[in-house]
Amino acid sequence: MGVLLEVKGLTTRFRVDKHAYINAANNVSFTLDEGETLAIVGESGSGKSVTALSVMGLVPSPPGHIERGEILFRGEDLLKLSPRGMRGVRGGKISMIFQEPMTSLNPVFTIGAQIVEAIRTHGGMSRAEAGRRAVELLKQAEIPDPERRVKTYPHQMSGGMRQRVMICMALASNPDILIADEPTTALDVTIQAQILELIRSLASERGMAVLFITHDLGVVADVARRAIVMYAGSVVEMGRVDELFAKPTHPYTRGLLSAIPRLATPRGQPLYTIPGIVPDLSRLPQGCAFAARCPDRIARCRKEKPALRELSGGRRCACFLAEGGV
Ligand SMILES: Nc1ncnc2c1ncn2[C@@H]1O[C@H](COP(=O)(O)OP(=O)(O)OP(=O)(O)O)[C@@H](O)[C@H]1O
Ligand SMILES: [Mg+2]
Repeated sequence: MGVLLEVKGLTTRFRVDKHAYINAANNVSFTLDEGETLAIVGESGSGKSVTALSVMGLVPSPPGHIERGEILFRGEDLLKLSPRGMRGVRGGKISMIFQEPMTSLNPVFTIGAQIVEAIRTHGGMSRAEAGRRAVELLKQAEIPDPERRVKTYPHQMSGGMRQRVMICMALASNPDILIADEPTTALDVTIQAQILELIRSLASERGMAVLFITHDLGVVADVARRAIVMYAGSVVEMGRVDELFAKPTHPYTRGLLSAIPRLATPRGQPLYTIPGIVPDLSRLPQGCAFAARCPDRIARCRKEKPALRELSGGRRCACFLAEGGV
């Protein structure tokens, strides 16, 4: 399968005061193949959404801007497109769904009107055709009684149903890539599983690639074959999900794995949490950003930032100690 999206050395900055910036995404590189689901995982503030927004051309500017890098979609650098060209890609070839669907749905229009609008923006269909297509999309998203649903308003639906509607709107343009930024975080566990299953089945039916963002490594195992792990704006580990689970090489990935409730500790023992907190990006330490929380750190980790390097089997890891060190 060919590479669909290649992000190369992406650095996205935010100005935090007159003289200071933070690199919310710091030299981030990854590829997404045709039809593949790739997960981006990391704690809150690790730069997952900023990476996604950078791909979508939606970094709020100011205070943000893309400082460096390339975002190649079918070989074309999206960062070189005109604002108009980028609008065509966004919501067209690349669509995004967000954590809280209520913020992306307009409360004053019916679900049907909003889906029709999304279809017509990219399709050039008549209103009647788009109306039929909207009902069809709702069916595909397994929304019961779609003919009636198109006439309802967002607040008349449950959170899970709203997320299904968002998925319909994202699919209206037949995108090649769906970016799903924590699409199930606001939902309860059963609904979460249903939405994950829906995304998975729609992606495989359509041969659509998915960039799936989550802070929950437990979810990653259900959706993606490969994952990248981010910490404080940088990619610290990347590899196949089964291998990451079987043998995490970065101490941060190990910490995230130990903190999954499903792989629970013996009864009575509290669930493991990684000690300490994500560092303040405006005051990152000189060496490895994870060093302060790392159970394995050595003196070198405080002085030098480990580069992301390739290990056996195509795995990448940014830790001096991985596979016996460098
Ligand atoms: N509009 C903004 N202005 C200033 N800083 C921002 C802005 N958006 C994001 N940041 C900063 O960029 C860093 C990364 O944020 P990002 O939203 O990408 O994290 P995340 O990994 O998506 O976290 P979460 O799991 O909470 O969604 C954070 O330190 C955040 O404060
Ligand atoms: Mg986020």
